[in-house]
Parts: sequence; structure tokens; C-alpha cells
Amino acid sequence: MGWMDLAGDMGLKSPPTPKDIGLKVERRSHPRREHAGFGVTIGVKSIDREHAALFDQLDRLQGNPGVHPGSEAFTELLSRLGRQIDAHFKSEEEILRTCGMPEEVVREHFQAHTAILDEYARLNLDMMDGGELSREDALRLIRNWIVQHVLSHDVKIVDFVTAPTDV
Ligand SMILES: [Fe+2]
Ligand SMILES: [Fe+2]
Repeated sequence: MGWMDLAGDMGLKSPPTPKDIGLKVERRSHPRREHAGFGVTIGVKSIDREHAALFDQLDRLQGNPGVHPGSEAFTELLSRLGRQIDAHFKSEEEILRTCGMPEEVVREHFQAHTAILDEYARLNLDMMDGGELSREDALRLIRNWIVQHVLSHDVKIVDFVTAPTDV
């Protein structure tokens, strides 16, 4: 039976909505979407999820031209991003320690994390001092922490994860 029959039975003049037929519609606060240039999956679900969340945050910064260093919104987004990055590095480093990668590669990866956290701290100090970093320069820096880092370091994890994990 088509929607007209169904709608007729239900006394409706238009196709029934999910609510009309008793379906619960879940609303996602941030609809899942493809990130431009980011088709990379590591194969560890928790890591891929955290990367997607970092990309969402980057999208929010890039997609809002009014958000520039010095504004309250920027400071707020940056501090949220900082907490996210910090938590992500901790969980990723847990994987790095145990996935069987060569020690040297793991050490370089840890150093890259430390360098990003240092840059993050410096960016915050600069903003507190009223530094005049442009929005473009700040975004370039943040893109490096997220996009460049994943592409040059995180992708190396793929070879050491034999099967996709459920965690
Ligand atoms: Fe990493
Ligand atoms: Fe990562």
C-alpha cells in the first residue's frame, strides 16, 4: 500500500511523518558528515571517533568567520579543543604503547604530541598577552595539529592494527 492509502487510513492529507506512525526520530546534535580531505580511518573505533570529533571542532572554527583570536568564542572553542586533544593523545598513546610498533616510531609520535601540546600552550599564552595572531595563522596552526598530524603520524598505526576493534 502506498502513502496515500496509509495517509487516508490515518486521516492525513500528506505522507505520514515518522511521528504519525509511531517512530521515534533521533536527532543528532551534529549530523555525521564526511570531512573534506579526511577519508582516513585508523581501524581503532575509539581513535576514529575521537578524530571525527576533532574534525568537527576544526569545522566549527573554520566555518565561522566571526570567530577570530581574541574573541570570546575563539577562546572557548580553543580551550574545548585543547581538552579534546589532550584526552585524545592520552588514549592514542595507550594504543601506541601496546600495538607493537617499532620503538623509534612510537617515540617520534610521542614527541609530535608533545610538540603540539607545547604549541597549544604557546598559542594560549600569546592570546593572553594580547598577541596579534591572525585568524588565518591560528587556523593554519590548528589544522597542522589535527590534519597534518593524522596524515603524517597516526596513519602509521593502521599497519599495526590487524582487525578493526570494537572499542
Ligand atoms: Fe597522534
Ligand atoms: Fe590522533
